[in-house]
Amino acid sequence: MSTLSASAEAPDLTRLFAPATVAGLSLRNRVAMAPMSRYFSPGGIPGADVAEYYRRRAAAGVGLILSEGTYIPHASAHSYENVPVFGGDPALAGWKAVIEAVHSAGGLMFPQLWHTGSFRTSGMAPDPSLPGLGPSANTNAFTGAEEPTRPMTEAEIADVIAAYAQAAGDAQRLGFDGVEVHGAHGYLIDEFLWSVTNRRTDGWNGDRRERTRFACEVIRAIRDAVGPDFPISFRFSQWKQQDYKAKLGDTPQELGEVLEPLAEAGVTLLHCSTRRIWEPAFPEESDMTMAGWAKKLTGLPTIAVGGVGLDRPGLNTAGAASLDVVASPLERGEFDILAVGRALLADAHWVEKAEAGRLDQMIGYDKAMLDRLD
Ligand SMILES: Cc1cc2nc3c(=O)[nH]c(=O)nc-3n(C[C@H](O)[C@H](O)[C@H](O)COP(=O)(O)O)c2cc1C
Repeated sequence: MSTLSASAEAPDLTRLFAPATVAGLSLRNRVAMAPMSRYFSPGGIPGADVAEYYRRRAAAGVGLILSEGTYIPHASAHSYENVPVFGGDPALAGWKAVIEAVHSAGGLMFPQLWHTGSFRTSGMAPDPSLPGLGPSANTNAFTGAEEPTRPMTEAEIADVIAAYAQAAGDAQRLGFDGVEVHGAHGYLIDEFLWSVTNRRTDGWNGDRRERTRFACEVIRAIRDAVGPDFPISFRFSQWKQQDYKAKLGDTPQELGEVLEPLAEAGVTLLHCSTRRIWEPAFPEESDMTMAGWAKKLTGLPTIAVGGVGLDRPGLNTAGAASLDVVASPLERGEFDILAVGRALLADAHWVEKAEAGRLDQMIGYDKAMLDRLD
């Protein structure tokens, strides 16, 4: 059965497309572009094509753009090539052009600050002699190479935390509207949160709350750098690229032990990375989605994401689909912002079409689209 037609029974999504204030941000609607790595920044510098890619989404009505992951200015953050860096004059000049382009089109934007942890191995840029760094000696998550990550020293931990703060301060200085800290998907911050990858025997490990120490110190350092009012989004996920069945918390209470310290440290917005927005986070408890639980546990506004606008979530090719899956969590107030990834990558005009119910005109997603930036 086609899900493309905007039938008479289509749910009321007015609230999604109406202006809103969330975490102090005046948004023209509640739709965000999800962070998506595009690997079009040679030498770590986002060029005019990157600025234009984001500007087009802002011009076509996206309320908030979350940038692709961008490396904090520390050599150990790097693994994948052609990822933009958030540091150094040439890259920051590129980012300044990006935010000016997005603002000129009426959009708001956060850079997503990224350290790839054990996805790095020695031999990689920008310093081939530097191995991957992680909380513990973990299997290389990207290449599966035999060389495990080197557990970080106290000095390296301090330097990496300082690099997050520096990038956030630069983001504020350049005019970005907030920052997002990538604490999800098994990268460095998540490696500290997850017991499987954090096997330290010092003060950076312990129970769930104690394992948030690294994330919390990153947040506190950023908060010190940007002041009390600058929005800080924290993206977390149960799943890891190393293990899609992994969980930070098996129960709401356990998840609370992770999220509450983050809120206390100064996070203003929780971005709950799930692959299917509509799925209950703890089915044995209720139908509530992860965004709903994160909000209930912390009182913070939330961003929900996963599989919106696509008929086959989780696949490399998907057709456009209605937004019916969003209706229940929207109505129940479980999220404040809806992030849309592949549907917006495929179709810069997705928001306009979704708002107008022009579902038959939406362009579906195909992995081949990753080869170009348009
Ligand atoms: C090409 C691509 C690149 C991605 N890169 C990132 C990234 O840099 N940071 C991140 O947190 N998530 C990343 N993601 C995950 C998306 O932000 C999003 O959570 C996921 O695609 C699910 O949303 P969707 O079903 O609307 O696409 C990426 C996803 C895709 C498809």
